Formats: sequence, C-alpha cells, structure tokens
Amino acid sequence: MSQPEQKNLEEISRLRAELDDANYRYYILDEPKLTDADYDRKLQRLKQLEFKHPELVSPDSPTQRVGAAPAEGFPEVAHAIPMLSLDNAFSRNDITAFAERVAERLECQAEDIEFSCEPKLDGAAISLVYEQGILVSGATRGDGRTGEGITSNLRTLRSVPLKLMGSNIPALLEVRGEVIMRHAGFEALNDRAREEGSKVFANPRNAAAGSLRQLDPRITATRPLEFHAYQVARIDMANLDDGAMGNSAMTTHSQQMERLKKWGFLSSAELRTVSGPVLVADYCEQLGEKRDQLGYDIDGVVIKVNDLRHQRELGFVARAPRWAVAFKFPAQEEVTTLNDVEFQIGRTGAITPVARLAPVTVAGVTVSNATLHNADEINRLGVMIGDTVAIRRAGDVIPQVVRVDIDKRPAQARAITFPVHCPVCGSDIERLEGEAVARCSGGLYCAAQRKEALKHFVSRKALDVDGLGEKLIEQLVDLDWVKSPADLFHLTASQLQTLPRMGEKSSTNLVNALDKAKHTTLARFIYALGIREVGEATAANLASHFGTLQTLQDADQAALEAVNDVGPIVATHVHTFFRQPHNLETLEALLDAGITWQESEITQGPTPLAGQTWVLTGTMDTMTRDEGKARLQALGAKVAGSVSKKTTCLVAGEAAGSKLTKAEQLGVEVIDEATFIERLAAWE
Ligand code: IVH
Repeated sequence: MSQPEQKNLEEISRLRAELDDANYRYYILDEPKLTDADYDRKLQRLKQLEFKHPELVSPDSPTQRVGAAPAEGFPEVAHAIPMLSLDNAFSRNDITAFAERVAERLECQAEDIEFSCEPKLDGAAISLVYEQGILVSGATRGDGRTGEGITSNLRTLRSVPLKLMGSNIPALLEVRGEVIMRHAGFEALNDRAREEGSKVFANPRNAAAGSLRQLDPRITATRPLEFHAYQVARIDMANLDDGAMGNSAMTTHSQQMERLKKWGFLSSAELRTVSGPVLVADYCEQLGEKRDQLGYDIDGVVIKVNDLRHQRELGFVARAPRWAVAFKFPAQEEVTTLNDVEFQIGRTGAITPVARLAPVTVAGVTVSNATLHNADEINRLGVMIGDTVAIRRAGDVIPQVVRVDIDKRPAQARAITFPVHCPVCGSDIERLEGEAVARCSGGLYCAAQRKEALKHFVSRKALDVDGLGEKLIEQLVDLDWVKSPADLFHLTASQLQTLPRMGEKSSTNLVNALDKAKHTTLARFIYALGIREVGEATAANLASHFGTLQTLQDADQAALEAVNDVGPIVATHVHTFFRQPHNLETLEALLDAGITWQESEITQGPTPLAGQTWVLTGTMDTMTRDEGKARLQALGAKVAGSVSKKTTCLVAGEAAGSKLTKAEQLGVEVIDEATFIERLAAWE
C-alpha cells in the first residue's frame, strides 16, 4: 500500500470512530459533542474517501445507514424465541396480586422481591440481532412467532447501532425494544402531510409502525424514529474468556439495561428498581403524573422481576411471562359526540375549525374542544356535526379529532360549512391556491386578529409586558380602547381602574410595566411586530444583520435573502410587511409612543461584499465552513450551497470535489484557504 493510501485508510477509521462516538453522545447520552455542521462535514469527508476506496466500504460504516434499494416486500423472519405479550394490571390491588403470585412461586415475601419498573412505550415492537457485534437482522414483532424483516429500514435509525461499541462484545445478541416517534416529530410530520395532502397518521404509534413498513428505506430515513431497548432476549458471551464480564456479571435485568447503554443502545432514563408491591405502585403513580411531560406516548408501566434467575424459574403461561405485568394508564383516545364546530381566527388571520364536544375525560383531563385543523382535514375525516368521534390527547399537544364512527351517525347529522366571511369582522375569507389554510382578509381591522396580535406583542419573548393577560387584552379591544399596539402606551391608571377587577395598584403596576417595556432591543421589537414566519431566531438574525430598523425596512428581497436562515418565503413576508401603509403607520405610532432600543447594541461593520455570492467547499484547517459562512455573511455576502454562473468566488478547502470542477468549468474565481483568510482579514 502506498503512503497516501495508508493515510486515507487511517483517516477512514478515525472518521468512523469519531462519527460513531458523536452519534452515541447525541442519541444515547444526550450530551452532544459535535455540532450538526461538524458531524455533516465529517460524514461528507468519509463518503468522499469511501468513494475513492470502494473496497474499504463496510456495512457498519456510518455512511451506510441509507444504502439499500427499495424492497419488493419484506421477508418473513422467524423469532428464535417468541415475542410475547403481557398480562395487564389496572390498580394497586392488581399489582399486589401479581407480586403475591410471584412470591408464592419463588417461596419468598412479596416485599423482598426486586422489580424493575419502566415506561410501557407506545410504538412498534422490534427485535435486533447482532453477530460478533455487527447488526445482521432487524424484524417486527408480527404475530410473535414470525415478523417482517425490515433490516434496511431499521439501519436508517441513528439510535440503532450498526456495530456494538465498547468492550466485551458477545458472539450473539438479540435486543428487543420499541421504535417510537416523539410528539414534536409526529406533529411536524402530520403538519407537513396536511400541507402536502399526503397521509396523516392518527397517532405516533401508527406513524412509527407505518414509517418502518416503507418499502423505500430513504423514506424511513426522513422519519423522526427512535429505538428504545427494553430487553435482552438472547446473549452468548461464550466467546469471552473474561468470565467476570460475561453472563455471570449480568444477573439482573437492570444490569443488562446498563450494559446495553454501554454497547450503544438507548434505554429508558425512567427505569427504577424497587422492592415490593407498594413501591412499585408508587412508581406507577409518579410516572402517571409525569406522563404528559415526557414528550412521547406511553400507555403504562412494565413491571419485571429483576433477577434473571427468578425470571427463568417463573417461566411462561400461554402467551405471557409470569415474571412481568403491564400496569395500564387511562387511554389517550376516547369517544364522544361532536356538538358543533366554531371557527377561530388567529394572529395572521388563519381560520381554524374548532370542534365543540360533549365533555369527555381523556387520559385524566376533561376535554370539550379539539382542533379540526382546516377544511381539508374535515373532508379527510368526513366528519359531520352530531357524529360520534374519537378524540386523542397527548402531552401538550392540542386534542385532535382522529376518527369518525360513521355507523353511529344520527339521522339529523349536519354538514360542516366553512364560512366565506370572517365570523368576527365580516371580511372575506381567502384561501390562496396551494395553501391548506384559509385566512380572514381583514388584517388589523379584524378584532380577532388585533387581539391575537396584541397578545403576541406583549408576550414574554416580545415586549414582555407584565400583568397584561389575555382577558384584559380582549376587554381593551372590545371597548375599542386599544386599536393598535401603540394605543397600549396611552392607557392611564385612572382609565384602567374603571375596569372590573382592576384596582388602583394593578392599574398603576400595568402602566409602569408598559413604561418599562418601551426600552427593548431591536430583535424583540422585530419579533413583536408579528411578521409572518418571523420567529424569535429569525428576528434576532434580522436585527444583527441590518443593525437598524431603517436598514431592515429599506432592504429589498435579495438583501433579505442574504440573512442567515432567511429563505425566499420569509424574505417576501418581511418585504411585504414593510410595504403596507397601515404597518408603517403602526411603526411610526410605536416610535412616537417612546419605544427605544440601543442602536449601538448591534455593531454593524462595513459590508464590502454586499451583492456577492460565495460558495465554500472542502475541508479547511483553521475554521469550519459554518464559521467561514458567518464571517462572509457579516461582510454582506450571500453564501450559497452550489456553484452557478452567479457565483462570485469559490473557497476550495482540502479535498474539494465536484464544486471545484464546476467552478473551473464556469470560470468562477477559486481561492484556497490561505488566500481566503488573508482576504477576510483585510475586509474585516
Ligand atoms: S418487556 C415478554 N418492556 O409491550 C414480554 N415491553 O405487551 C417482554 N412494550 O408489544 C416485554 N414497552 O413491545 C417490555 N419497557 C417495555 C415495553 C414493552 C413497551 C411493549 C412490547 C410488547 C408489549 C407487551
């Protein structure tokens, strides 16, 4: 092997180790070490090297997660040991009875038995087989005896190790666990599906199972799935002569779970071992209270006898083990009647149909309203007023109507008609071509939009006005005391005192809070304006990029798109906002009312590269591409991802590839890292 080849080989194994380690820290330990950009950069570099050396590509390389071609179908996989189900428990009494049964068989006291308690995850059950530490097979539970082989899909999950990490790797390991989708990822997936008119999933469990059964692994790869290990089904440590680390060292389920973490698996952070039925029941109660804050669906607690010898001794009955039981929480889906549908107007005029329901308790909370999202969703569900509907509530997510029971439809059921005029201000409702959302065209003329705009204006991340709650805002708008945000600053304490429940003290406090809120930052002020799609982060980027309100106001579409994270849509919203006469009036009124911020807070340097487009490629020694990008943007340049005729200059780091070739073909200027640094220094 030549010397450069030897160097490549070393770099490949170094990059693989670094990427595996980064993955582990990110997904398993939740202590990220590399930034996303650094991770991508290293992965890119590894792909490049493997492209040059195809003979060195191995299936456990981090580049090989999405590799397989779409499948025709899934092969049957027989489980070496059947994947069983669990008996259920619903009360403290049931838990005690379970512990007593176990105690009787083991001939000991229930109080002395150690139980491992962990969340019962609501996803899809999966089995993974590792031979000599390498993932060889992944399958669904199926009917418990045979499942579907979905190895290529499971490989795309970054929480599924392709290769076990660390030491004492067993000759054979079968790990079982649940693939779940967190609420945030599930909501985002469904929001996108609603916009695109594609399949909407009723709950995260269906979304997880459906995503795993895609024939094309590239689709699975885009789904926010996580594998959580909960059981070692088979392990063979015979190959290890270090007996102390072998089977004998893992005599309990909880030890096995600890060991799985070291090998690179995610297992429940909520796992606790406790002795006796009383503490087990306490655990169930406490986890039940935490259920809404976990960010993913659980439907109960799995209670397992911790000692593996005892598990073997207890064995199985029919389809369930004697050593475990599932304590079930109340269901997250309940059935009720849809009494009516009302239409709510949001801050940007978006109109949302809201289901008014016969009150029903869902997972411990009374629900009487649920969202129906938009007109397409109503059509998709085929729902009518009077229908029997299934409601789902999980965590912080707004309750949703997920299904209709058509068989129970009463004769007098009514169709839901989407209004053509705003129910609040009477303006036309518009639905732009290709958009799922319909909007009231009334703008700030519409009291509903005004209320929402004001709520946003005074919210914590905007002007942060203490003591100005929703109810008060609604009163102020209904009384016509406040038509635009600037009017807030002209309210007097004596005027406020005439309102119900507003004493002298609270009125004075509110006026003082408003006075205090006048001194803000440009970023907060931009955010407070409530420009469509301009969240907190974008507002901060706009503020630091333009430095003054005037420069932002004057910026054209291209100048706006040059801002970090601002794409054409956001740029259009910002540009349009500052071209509306009523918005300019509002701005002027706000500044007249005394809103100020320190302009000097943002130091705006010269922008010698304004109007230029740069591209960065390859690896640089002294900085990351992100740093280079940030410094170019600070100088006014736009940084693009690909080379075109419009590119001003390409910075080519080490091992630059196709972008360099393209730049050379198009005659675009190319500079190396050293020249780039010199030029940056001169401009900055
Ligand atoms: S242990 C012998 N632990 O619950 C069975 N199962 O009814 C051992 N499940 O479909 C299963 N979370 O996928 C176990 N922490 C957990 C679990 C869990 C969810 C599912 C499992 C199976 C069902 C069993």
